[in-house]
Amino acid sequence: MLEDFISIHDLTLYEFSQVLDLTQEIKTHPQRFRNKLNRKILAMIFQKPSLRTRMTFEVGMLQLGGEAVYLGPSDIQMGTRESIHDVGQNLERWIDGVMIRTFDHQDVLDLAESSAIPVINGLTDLLHPCQAMADFFTLKEKRIDLTNLKLAYLGDGNNVCHSLLLAAAKTGTRIAVATPPGYEPKEEILKIVEQDGKETGSTFTLTHDPEEAVQEAAAVYTDVWASMGQEEEKEERAKIFTPFQVNKTLMAKAKPDAFFMHCLPAHRGEEVTAEVINSSQSVVFDQAENRLHVQKAIMLLLMRKKS
Ligand code: CP
Ligand code: NVA
Repeated sequence: MLEDFISIHDLTLYEFSQVLDLTQEIKTHPQRFRNKLNRKILAMIFQKPSLRTRMTFEVGMLQLGGEAVYLGPSDIQMGTRESIHDVGQNLERWIDGVMIRTFDHQDVLDLAESSAIPVINGLTDLLHPCQAMADFFTLKEKRIDLTNLKLAYLGDGNNVCHSLLLAAAKTGTRIAVATPPGYEPKEEILKIVEQDGKETGSTFTLTHDPEEAVQEAAAVYTDVWASMGQEEEKEERAKIFTPFQVNKTLMAKAKPDAFFMHCLPAHRGEEVTAEVINSSQSVVFDQAENRLHVQKAIMLLLMRKKS
């Protein structure tokens, strides 16, 4: 039974489908779930900014009958004012779950280790699992057969890319990642993806050629070129990543009517043109909406059993 939600790799194939199925049920019949986490409390630790993650976890808890408490970077100063271990030990005495967004992935693992309550990863430098679950739910909702899908990811081999690779490995999806040289996904993640993919027949390819990646793709995904914490590299990265911009010409090389996907926030004119993100092929706000439904499912699976 899943105790924390830190990496998609930790989910069994059954648990992965269970999250997607429960998400569908919650999205279709939200009223049936409105008291399922009655009076439960989630702490939300944010060491980085957020719109979607903050809103969807807080709104999700409210819609399930519980509450959420926001802890910003200056509130707890995790690791400097107090050790992660002690933060975890305190929180478990008061509340029912923790969502954490931070830099170092190890901090999330340490928090989970030091606390008996469920810990949910709301983004680290390494992974963004809630995002990828919402993205795969979105594709499924669009009646895409995930086992027969080619997904193209263009840009930085970052946290979002890693979690998409891990999700693809659970569904049998074919994923092509195009990055500039030196910005490929991490070797440690690729090893896990290769291993997990054996169970489902999922394959991935890495290339430095965006046109090659989008060929036959039913969905084209991109993310910002400089992630949170990389602001000082922004200008240098803008030069390196320019050939990876998702524009109309590139979209025309994917399947006709391929979906355009982005985790948001997006920078129009950088990783994607306004024309593409504002087009009818774009599903970015469906992805954002589905963060809410998918995270309600994750919180229910993790926090309901203790009621
Ligand atoms: N996609 C996403 O996680 O958005 P926020 O950074 O606004 O939470
Ligand atoms: N890769 C981006 C994702 C934001 C949701 C970042 O880490 O800033």
